[in-house]
Amino acid sequence: MKDQSIEVLTADITTLDVDVIVNAANTSLLGGGGVDGAVHRAAGPELREACRRLGGCERGDAKITAGFKLPAKWVVHAVGPIWHGGDSGEPAQLRNCYRRAFELAKNRQAGSIAFSCISTGVYGYPRRAAAEIAVSEMRANEPAFERIVACCFDDENAQIYQQLLSSP
Ligand code: APR
Repeated sequence: MKDQSIEVLTADITTLDVDVIVNAANTSLLGGGGVDGAVHRAAGPELREACRRLGGCERGDAKITAGFKLPAKWVVHAVGPIWHGGDSGEPAQLRNCYRRAFELAKNRQAGSIAFSCISTGVYGYPRRAAAEIAVSEMRANEPAFERIVACCFDDENAQIYQQLLSSP
């Protein structure tokens, strides 16, 4: 059946027992609020040290670290676009975050990966438009993973993903 390996959860991503979780970070990679704050709190101070050694990250790109105290083995730190209306390259940058996250996960031979809804909080990206990009990249990478999770933090986002995944 199609999309069998893509699942939608409403959960705190830091609790998920998967190989890789994808954090929504900023260009400093040194932590922040939202999911980024939760990931750093749950992983412990070693994560911040590991991130410091990475020397930041460009917007639309991603970097990977260990998961330290998290159940996840790895954390991909993706820096999503800030929404400025959609004509400033935001869709391409968001798509690239998903592509890079999958690439980094494959390089680590990961079989399972969970994504936060990158850019849809503080960065203001419209939820449905962001989910459309996420789902299209998840579908493109589905054959390479046993499990891909769209980890939503609220029911509204989860419903958007369910709806998109239920149509071809
Ligand atoms: N688990 C899963 N999802 C979460 C969690 C969590 N613990 N906490 C928040 N979220 C959800 C939000 O509801 C939102 O849908 O993650 C999504 C992304 O929201 P933000 O965390 O605000 O990320 P983003 O919009 O990409 O903005 C990034 O926020 O804190 C800073 O350092 C971060 O500056 C960067 C900016």
